[in-house]
Amino acid sequence: MVKINTCVFISGKGSNLKNLIIHSRNKSFPIKISLVISNNKKAYGINYAKKFKIPFIFINTRLKNYENKILFNFKKYNISFICLAGYMKIISNNLIKKYKRKIINIHPSLLPKFKGLNTFSRMLKNNEKKGGCTVHYVNKKLDSGSTIIQKSFIINKKDNELSLKKKTQKLEYKAYPEAIIKIFKKS
Ligand code: GAR
Repeated sequence: MVKINTCVFISGKGSNLKNLIIHSRNKSFPIKISLVISNNKKAYGINYAKKFKIPFIFINTRLKNYENKILFNFKKYNISFICLAGYMKIISNNLIKKYKRKIINIHPSLLPKFKGLNTFSRMLKNNEKKGGCTVHYVNKKLDSGSTIIQKSFIINKKDNELSLKKKTQKLEYKAYPEAIIKIFKKS
């Protein structure tokens, strides 16, 4: 099986990256993580790239030509699929156009509810009954591309931001690999 060379973008802890790396080591999983990109030099997730000997680069999104660095490395590692995993920057329209329906993201809410940041505090304020996560295609509008997979859980009265995050991430570790399998089953 020829695996799809994939780049994962991160900004922080990288637990979804770690989960994807572990899944990708399975022979039948459709992608290989060939590159990790972080906009944050201190992102803990970089340690997983190091541990699993995956090339990684930093980008400084404040520099004008940062996208050239991305495209150069996409070419170098023959990247044809992109997973955003806790990447807290906007992907430019240029990249989205070049990689149409090849960029996916995981978001910690049941989209279209709670796009953007601070999802858990907003969910609590809103007395939401359900939480969850969504894996979706990335398009020009923030957290608005079509959904690939969603998983949900019931919120109870004792839940707080931390417990919501834990419950959500537990589902994310199932949803992200499932979404990737689903995409490549189709094509
Ligand atoms: C994940 O829960 C992901 O859903 C969220 O950041 C976390 C990253 O965790 N993404 C967003 O909020 C994107 N808007 P991780 O670094 O441990 O994978």
